[in-house]
Amino acid sequence: MMLAAVAGVGHVPEIPPPWLIDKSDFCVAKLKGPVGPAGYSCKNPAKVTVHDFVFSGLGMAGNTSNIISAAVTPAFDAQFPGVNGLGISIARLDLAPGGVIPMHTHPAASEILLVVRGTITAGFISSANTVYVKTLKSGDVMVFPQGLLHFQINAGGIKAIAFPSFSSANPGLQILDFALFANNLPTELVVKSTFLDAAQVKKLKGVLGGTG
Ligand SMILES: *[C@@H]1O[C@H](CO)[C@@H](O)[C@H](O)[C@H]1NC(C)=O
Repeated sequence: MMLAAVAGVGHVPEIPPPWLIDKSDFCVAKLKGPVGPAGYSCKNPAKVTVHDFVFSGLGMAGNTSNIISAAVTPAFDAQFPGVNGLGISIARLDLAPGGVIPMHTHPAASEILLVVRGTITAGFISSANTVYVKTLKSGDVMVFPQGLLHFQINAGGIKAIAFPSFSSANPGLQILDFALFANNLPTELVVKSTFLDAAQVKKLKGVLGGTG
């Protein structure tokens, strides 16, 4: 009735009036606002456009000239405001020959990895310390359950590309070696808490930028 009346007078508003927007449909990230474990606060729905729901950054290779010969290009809430609040996100993984994503966890998300080029040896370790490892080829997907330590290694002589997607708009990341060796936790405490020997701990602190 109301729509007919509106159409009848030939008035089509460019932006739907606020009372026509269902605020529960989405919560596009207000990137300048505060961010917490639940994500960002919502951008004014009247100001949301299709650009908030499209991210065009995954078509380009990341820069793999680094210590791990790998690059991850994220499309998380901070880069892709439309995923805020939806419990979903995606990224692009480039692995040069010899490249590796070292052992790490995403505290807030499970991950599904789709390989589209090359071969990748990927695996995770359960909390019972069972290893699940497989060399994946183009078209294969592997799932990594939330919170578990996992890794990806280029298993071929060519560049590999994969797209990991996550069950969170902000999956979080903790890299095991960085947690152990890239900070100022005193060597003596690292030795005691890992059973590694001091020479090995100091060597890895040197490589990864840790001190103490
Ligand atoms: C890639 O990163 C390296 C090391 O930071 C830098 O020297 C190089 O210019 C970068 N290449 C491109 C294409 O951005």
